[in-house]
Amino acid sequence: MAQLTQPFTFKNLTLKNKIVMAPMCQYSVDAKDGIPNDWHFVHYTSRAVGGAGLILVEMTDVDPDGRITDYDLGLWSDEHIPAYKKIVDAVHKQGAKIGIQIAHAGRKGEDANPPVAPSAIPVTKDDKMPRALTTEEVQKTVQQFQDAAKRAVKAGFDTIELHGAHGYLIHQFHSPGINQREDKYGQELSLFGVQIIHAVKAVIPEDMPLLMRISAVEYMDGGYDIDHALEIAKKYQAAGVDMLHISSGGEAPPGKQKPATHPGYQVPFARRFKEELDIPVIAVGILEDPLLAEAVIGNGDADLVAIGRGMLKDPYWAIRASEQLGDTMEPARQYKRAYPKK
Ligand SMILES: Cc1cc2nc3c(=O)[nH]c(=O)nc-3n(C[C@H](O)[C@H](O)[C@H](O)COP(=O)(O)O)c2cc1C
Repeated sequence: MAQLTQPFTFKNLTLKNKIVMAPMCQYSVDAKDGIPNDWHFVHYTSRAVGGAGLILVEMTDVDPDGRITDYDLGLWSDEHIPAYKKIVDAVHKQGAKIGIQIAHAGRKGEDANPPVAPSAIPVTKDDKMPRALTTEEVQKTVQQFQDAAKRAVKAGFDTIELHGAHGYLIHQFHSPGINQREDKYGQELSLFGVQIIHAVKAVIPEDMPLLMRISAVEYMDGGYDIDHALEIAKKYQAAGVDMLHISSGGEAPPGKQKPATHPGYQVPFARRFKEELDIPVIAVGILEDPLLAEAVIGNGDADLVAIGRGMLKDPYWAIRASEQLGDTMEPARQYKRAYPKK
């Protein structure tokens, strides 16, 4: 029996299988107001129809200037809540669970004038020069994460993922190369992330797991290695993170330490976090061959497998994977006639 398609329970989150839709920015908020529209509704609901156990809504920003572009989703106002609730309810109807990745782009904000960052260091010399946040502004940003988390709970999300990867603001703070501050947020690189975790945990239900995505290694020359990421992640775990989602890079143009991008290239990172932190881990990165995804779970490298581009190509990836693994995932009632054996 395939393991990928077996249920998974952690705290109050019970998934019907171990397949996660990876968060993927759609840059589709045409009204530039951060509110999800028909595109987002169809995009997420169809992956729930397609059998994914957990859908992670794309990077959703806690402040208008925390967007990568003005077309990003946002959660900086109560006016955002009803449109998310509509998606959450539709996804639940299909028996899937849904989380939202909350974030701030920091110096990677393309439309912010200027973008903000821990320090006035641009991504490259051709990018906008960011303005360093004052200590008070850093504290205000922590509050914005808390407010966004409250709204996510109100919208009915089953879990929240903090985006601490890919060179966005939380990552920028725990990166020795990017955070050159002289205040307490520069002395303790994990402090910003730890404060966000405390703030978010204080407003979400006690039994709701808090996820965090982290880059296991940086790709830029002189970037941090996995030992640094493990040290930071241990602090995040102590602060209350319940599950880690292991990605890599994204902070700046890659240098010599960029890993080759073959199938499963980030799985060894996921395994290392699983071994050293002893909390559930999500693996991601070119895992769209169902046999490979099954091997990741079967070998105990990770607890869940996230699929990104594979699900952009095929919203029914999960059902198709289960068929290939010889399993019997239930399709939506309306589609059963296409699967005569079921
Ligand atoms: C179109 C697109 C948008 C993405 N946006 C996000 C995002 O919002 N947040 C995030 O953490 N990763 C984002 N990613 C990275 C994916 O979540 C995933 O980690 C990556 O695509 C590798 O998985 P895959 O090989 O299954 O696609 C994005 C990837 C793609 C292709």
